[in-house]
Amino acid sequence: MAQIKFFSGQNIPVEMHRVRVVQKLRLIPARERLKKLQEAGNNLYLLQNEDIFMDMLTDSGVNAMSDNQLASMMNADDAYAGSRTFGELKAKVAEIFGMEHFLPAHQGRACENILAHGFVTPGSIVPMNYHFTTTRTHININGGTVVELIAPGGETVTGTAPFKGNMDPQALTDLIKEKGADKIAFVRMEAGANLIGGQPVSLQNFREIGEICRKHGILYLMDASLLQDNLYFNKVREAECRDMSIREITRAIADCFDIIYFSARKLGFARGGGIAMRSKEHWDHLKELVPLFEGFLTYGGMSVKEMAAITVGLDETMDIDIISQGPMFIAYMVDELVKLGIPVVTPAGGLGCHVDAKAFVPQIPGHEYPSAALVSAMYLAGGIRAMERGTLSEDRNPDGTERIARMELARLAVPRRVFTMSQLGYAVDRIAWLYQQRDIIRGLKFVEEPKTLRFFVGRLATLSPWQEELVDRFERDFGKDN
Ligand code: F0G
Repeated sequence: MAQIKFFSGQNIPVEMHRVRVVQKLRLIPARERLKKLQEAGNNLYLLQNEDIFMDMLTDSGVNAMSDNQLASMMNADDAYAGSRTFGELKAKVAEIFGMEHFLPAHQGRACENILAHGFVTPGSIVPMNYHFTTTRTHININGGTVVELIAPGGETVTGTAPFKGNMDPQALTDLIKEKGADKIAFVRMEAGANLIGGQPVSLQNFREIGEICRKHGILYLMDASLLQDNLYFNKVREAECRDMSIREITRAIADCFDIIYFSARKLGFARGGGIAMRSKEHWDHLKELVPLFEGFLTYGGMSVKEMAAITVGLDETMDIDIISQGPMFIAYMVDELVKLGIPVVTPAGGLGCHVDAKAFVPQIPGHEYPSAALVSAMYLAGGIRAMERGTLSEDRNPDGTERIARMELARLAVPRRVFTMSQLGYAVDRIAWLYQQRDIIRGLKFVEEPKTLRFFVGRLATLSPWQEELVDRFERDFGKDN
């Protein structure tokens, strides 16, 4: 994908695949979108898919599958115990990561549940480059505390640093000195860091942190859910990786770790998850939790068809022509928004394009949920469903006060191989229009607030009738049919 040059000199990402199965979309008019949004309590998770034109909520479980993945699903070996398909998945994980032992789970957070149960004890600490929502909650409910050690600059919205997901090695050394290695349940690296804009981690940083862990006898884990985008960035941004194949980079990264877990809703273009590990002792320690929480050891809550698709998907992940599509489309969208002066996270990361809500709607304070308000406005402006990644995605502090997020992002995920360039152009156009109307946008408040992971099912209301005003403005500019 990266190699195709244009006579005109333009830099356009060209897909290295063709599309043979498509799904019809529906664009309901803005006035109807307003009604649907209000019925959904201003929570885009509660909308119906049929009322959405561009679903940019997530890249999880919604990536397009390949012909070979679909073919493999027809040949899956259905069995509760001892499925051949599981054996093939386990062998593929071992081939790619060099880790012999594998436990299946139905998705990424199920792996987190098992790992937190297995290793987190009350009072223990889990240092990581950055938290993910479900990860932190699993660690907290098992009595542990997350400590984020993102390297300086990681949380800066704009920049040119190629690996903003890196962990600060000095901060880890200091933390170990202060708390003692025995207090640390494990060190977790997220490749790349989702909540700061899908920002990657360098091979060098994976290694450096691994050496510190080894020196102190601390378990070292990777969350590889977003590894495929990270691999692309290692290849194109890191000198050491330039002449390595994706397979070689993957192995060099995996060699740093004791345990690798992943959501196969992202890594592997299918739906499922798993935990790969080097040591039989770890496998023995965790294995009883799989039949308890997930399903028997040879399916772990996954359908065998999905396991077959993951096996092929992992193999396809080793192909630069396949994994470059996502990051190149994201970079295209980020560049277009930057040209229009719209605040976005730079450099472009993996997963999606991240709009900086703090700069887009500076009039909305953190406790009125600026990124949640912005994503609701994006839905009104274009039938686009983005995801709030800011204060609303945080749980409250134990004393009931808001934990104001340091970054307020409206994330426009670009599920792999799903959207065309013209659709991304449409999204850019609608966001550009919204940016001109940004003064209208105001905050939200909870009317139903769950105690934990409140962003999934909480319901909100506007603090003033600004959404009606936005739709009036939209009809003035686009008519009543858009
Ligand atoms: N770890 C990371 C880095 C993730 O991005 C996710 C999911 C998980 C773990 C949990 O995996 O969804 O299979 O249970 N991220 C999705 C997202 C939900 O939209 O960013 P899961």
